[in-house]
Amino acid sequence: MLSREDNELLTRVGPGAAMGATMRRYWTPALLARELPEPDGAPVRVRLLGEDLIAFRDTRGRVGLLDEYCPHRRASLFFGRNEECGLRCVYHGWKYDVDGRCVDMMNEPEEHQFTDKIRITSYPTVERGGLVWAYLGPAELAPPLPNFAWTAMPATHVNVSKVIQESNWLQGLEGGIDTSHAPILHRLLTTESTRPGFKPTNPFVRGKAPRLVVDLTDYGYQYAGIRPLDETSLHIRTYHFILPFHQIRPSQNERGLRLVAGHIWVPIDDDTTMVYNWEYSTGEALTDEDRLERRLGNGPLEVDQTTFRGKRNRANDYLIDRRVQKTESFTGIDGINTQDRAIQESMGPIVDRSHEHLGPADKAVIQARRLLLDAVKSVASGGTPRGLEPTYYALRAAEGVVPRDADWRALLTPEMAQTEILQTV
Ligand code: FES
Ligand SMILES: [Fe+2]
Repeated sequence: MLSREDNELLTRVGPGAAMGATMRRYWTPALLARELPEPDGAPVRVRLLGEDLIAFRDTRGRVGLLDEYCPHRRASLFFGRNEECGLRCVYHGWKYDVDGRCVDMMNEPEEHQFTDKIRITSYPTVERGGLVWAYLGPAELAPPLPNFAWTAMPATHVNVSKVIQESNWLQGLEGGIDTSHAPILHRLLTTESTRPGFKPTNPFVRGKAPRLVVDLTDYGYQYAGIRPLDETSLHIRTYHFILPFHQIRPSQNERGLRLVAGHIWVPIDDDTTMVYNWEYSTGEALTDEDRLERRLGNGPLEVDQTTFRGKRNRANDYLIDRRVQKTESFTGIDGINTQDRAIQESMGPIVDRSHEHLGPADKAVIQARRLLLDAVKSVASGGTPRGLEPTYYALRAAEGVVPRDADWRALLTPEMAQTEILQTV
């Protein structure tokens, strides 16, 4: 459990909130790069950490991220004209470049213009891995640019998508780093089922309930769910948690292609989260079919690509099929990540963690909260939180069956990338 005070501390992310200040120290995904496909194209609304912003790609291809509201008389720049290296408010024609400078005022005679006195809030952006990342923190504390193994992969091998989750960001993160639920919530009841999920023959399901080992690092942690399979072998699945909201895990898609995958739980505001999903193949390129993400339920067949809302959602009970729940899958809901969203949204917008009863299987969740509380304290006292140094750059995750007496770290490290362990809990 978590005290009400700490729960508030970790979940509130607006400007002025302690966690809001902490998150603003990191590069944060703002939107998919493909939402701004061309220079001078239509601007896009972005709500991020409780702030209403407008993104646009200017004539030179640069991405601007500005306060939504025009400093003149507060009209929304969503209706703006994206023209000649700037976004022009259509109310009185004030125009702003990607750096937030006001460069023209159509409603004032030239000799009365005071463009040099006007600035609109603007945030620096960078495009990496198919995402536009933004930095909303103090300029003098800007960290190195985001750099993950997956952002360095060629576009032919990487897929990214996003979907809105109607809950606080921490519920999403905690679901993503909770290995104990996965072979339960996402279980299939028969080997013959063609629905998405883990079949009874999968070692993930065949294994007994896991023991968790968490290796604390300077970016967060790596951890393993260790499941006894039989007298002689263990199933191991590893994850990384990189502060403040990144998960990396091993994956495999419906045609058996081995992938490294992850999520980023980016707060839209306190009650809503944009879940970014990425995966890449270490072998052959991804096909169009792979990019549909049928198994996870994050792709264009399941998520409206204009609103980024799931077609299965809270209002229609995620189209749960009670017959399927009796005969084929544990939930009766299709889509592995749709199942995650259904359950995490079912807890309410911000779960009251003071009412929980946690056990050893929740160790990774507990450690993530501790690291986040440490990060908040460190930022509040003028320090640097974890996860800003280059030590996370190469991280991957792994899964395997190993002999019971083997050193699983030694066996899986080549796949996971070497990491310096500060303490094991
Ligand atoms: S409100 Fe934008 S120019 Fe007047
Ligand atoms: Fe899950």
